Amino acid sequence: MNNRYNLILRAARREPVERTPVWLMRQAGRYQPEFRAIRQKYDFLTLCKTPEKMVEVSLLPVQQLDIDGAIIFFDLLLPCEAMGSHLEYLKGEGPVIHNPIRSAADVQQLGTPDPTEANPALGQAIQWLKRELAGSIPVLGFTGAPWTMAAYMIEGGGSSHYTHIKRMMYQEPVLFDQLQQRISTVLVDYLCYQIESGAELVQLFDTWVGHLSLADYRRFALPYTQQVIAAVKQRCPQAAMVLYVNTCSHLLSAMVESGADVLSLDWRVDLAAAWQQVGHRVALQGNLDPTLLFAPKTTVEAAAQALLAAFPAPTGHIFNLGHGILPETPVENVQALVRTVQQYRRPV
Ligand code: CP3
Repeated sequence: MNNRYNLILRAARREPVERTPVWLMRQAGRYQPEFRAIRQKYDFLTLCKTPEKMVEVSLLPVQQLDIDGAIIFFDLLLPCEAMGSHLEYLKGEGPVIHNPIRSAADVQQLGTPDPTEANPALGQAIQWLKRELAGSIPVLGFTGAPWTMAAYMIEGGGSSHYTHIKRMMYQEPVLFDQLQQRISTVLVDYLCYQIESGAELVQLFDTWVGHLSLADYRRFALPYTQQVIAAVKQRCPQAAMVLYVNTCSHLLSAMVESGADVLSLDWRVDLAAAWQQVGHRVALQGNLDPTLLFAPKTTVEAAAQALLAAFPAPTGHIFNLGHGILPETPVENVQALVRTVQQYRRPV
């Protein structure tokens, strides 16, 4: 085991590090010609269920970017499918669930899948990826967080106003709680399956929960996130846990109570201020605007350096974007970003 292997994990635990580690949300994806070539041959769901291909795609950013962690290639919505959502990825439109949950009967029909049976490829791919990496860098796993999973299952896909999920929250809070409870049980099993298969850090994506007010976040989302994190920590205490929320500045004071080791923040949050506010309790991950990767390379490098300088020391920071890499992003700018972070030495 080399020093680099546990760099992200030490940063997650706010232990000393030689430099700030970096990985990027959606580091494997359509911005890479190699990924697009694989996608010509396999549809997306098949890709997420074929261990050999999952490993191949997970390794693309390792080879291309020399990144500090390898996130397993999978999708947030596969556990929804395993619970009973009829999931389809439409070209150009993203995911659609054809049987959105709108009633008590819909909730009752949901299953509680065992991930080792519903998605055995996930554990197999993580074990395989771990063998390929041979202790060079850690494997990162993930799921959605309960609220964002519920949002996809209720809305039936992406949404601009989240009307259906909010209507269920406000009109039928007991039913909404039942749904969240079922989803949470499944998420704990998916997270532990990944950790038991070899993932050293897992991230919960609560991508869309920023649509809630602070009071509603505390009432309708945080308790389930806390429950999932506590259950995973009890069953699999060895893994570090990250909580990501997009558009999260108004939720930061509550997110710090989630139990996560790391909070992953979007680019609207000032990292230096966030570190002042919560850095004594959690590590931070983030948070370059992914669109900044379309700027000239020198602008990308300067922005990354400014972000790194927000921390008095490299301790407690995992460099990432504020959301996933966008499909048309130039590969050479992503490479320049990673290189800049890895070569950064703070002024003495
Ligand atoms: O980060 C990684 O490199 C690992 C792989 C990963 C994917 N999805 C692959 C993917 C991860 C971590 C995710 C998480 C995910 N999936 C989230 C949470 C993070 C986020 O971006 O907000 C969400 C909301 C999903 C659901 C999902 N899957 C959406 C909304 C889409 C369509 C968006 C798009 O870019 O078209 C997907 C498809 C998807 N998941 C792709 C990839 C590489 C694109 C598939 C393709 O068309 O080739």
